[in-house]
Amino acid sequence: MLTDTQNLVDLKRGLISRRVYVDQEIYEQELEQVFARNWCFLAHEAQVPNPGDFVSSYIGEDPVLVVRDSRGKINAFLNTCRHRGMRVCRADHGNAAAFTCTYHGWTYGNDGKLVGVPGYKEYYYEELDMEQWGLVPVAQVDSYKGLIFGTFDPEAPSLLDYLGDMAWYLEILLGRRKGGSVLVGGVQKWIMNTDWKLPADNFGSDGYHVPVTHISAQKVGFLGAGGRIRSEQERQAIRGFNVSANGHGFGVGPFRPDENPLYTDVFNPYLESIKDEVVEQLGPVRGQLRIGASTLFPNLSMIGGEVHRTIRIWHPRGPDKTEVWSYALADAEAPAEVKNAHRLGALTSTTRSASVKGATARSTLATSGRRLASTTSAVSTNAGRS
Ligand code: FES
Ligand SMILES: [Fe+2]
Repeated sequence: MLTDTQNLVDLKRGLISRRVYVDQEIYEQELEQVFARNWCFLAHEAQVPNPGDFVSSYIGEDPVLVVRDSRGKINAFLNTCRHRGMRVCRADHGNAAAFTCTYHGWTYGNDGKLVGVPGYKEYYYEELDMEQWGLVPVAQVDSYKGLIFGTFDPEAPSLLDYLGDMAWYLEILLGRRKGGSVLVGGVQKWIMNTDWKLPADNFGSDGYHVPVTHISAQKVGFLGAGGRIRSEQERQAIRGFNVSANGHGFGVGPFRPDENPLYTDVFNPYLESIKDEVVEQLGPVRGQLRIGASTLFPNLSMIGGEVHRTIRIWHPRGPDKTEVWSYALADAEAPAEVKNAHRLGALTSTTRSASVKGATARSTLATSGRRLASTTSAVSTNAGRS
């Protein structure tokens, strides 16, 4: 029987039962009703620029293979063999004309079609209808400004409808230069002992925590005013706001130069040099804004600025585990030293604090959520970003 989640969330009063963060049954419902039905981030187009390029990803806990076929079309398939369910592609990324399952050797083209079956004549008497046994496609696949999304729901609204007004804001991060964005460096992956919703919520609406949780990062200069704590007056002057539309949450603030002492020499001359192009691309309003921490429902988060320019995917791995994938993001046309600074910034900025706060919140919720099932948490306030 499905858990009735209606009475676990009180939207009017901003209250939520802690059970939603720890309950196995609710987690399984989420895999079916959230991950299998929404548009989920799969990969960046820059990861598959050439025919045959592929990257392994997930929708919820289901492995998905994203591949640009030999004719240049980007496809996504459930990464399991139609024979006995073995994972067809076990590499993280690469280039292939075809994928051969390592169990019995069924082979699929990079367009998903079954093209080879060992013993087709001797064991299957040429009666297997190979047309029927290609890889299972993700029902809909589409891209927005380089980000590839997929949904298992053939009836889901279009990706653009799903993004809604958030598409306008997303462009600030992904389209400030003509060439769009790319990922730089590799991917950082780690496990957090927490439910996927905690980090998604943290990025999507919780600017409130920044001056407290990240004060050590502010003091050493990774965040904020280069090692100096801002006065209340300064904070008010750069205060941004949270935007909510279509279930997505974005932090938006006035554009300002980078203040991390390690990288100001790289980023600030670059930002100065692209100022006019940014306004040309985004117009006078968006050209003056920057994206803060944000979440596209359900599990793609991103953070703007320069030193933290990353996207994060919170892959669910149970009500007590999240597999985080983090990539550094850069303008495609940025010079190599700027891209490298984004890469280093992503490696050294918020990774650890995100893990610590997720794990700490989780351990508290695990105790109070189980023992006090009726306990509620206050939903994040929309306090201004620092
Ligand atoms: S499971 Fe893939 S060929 Fe048998
Ligand atoms: Fe944070």
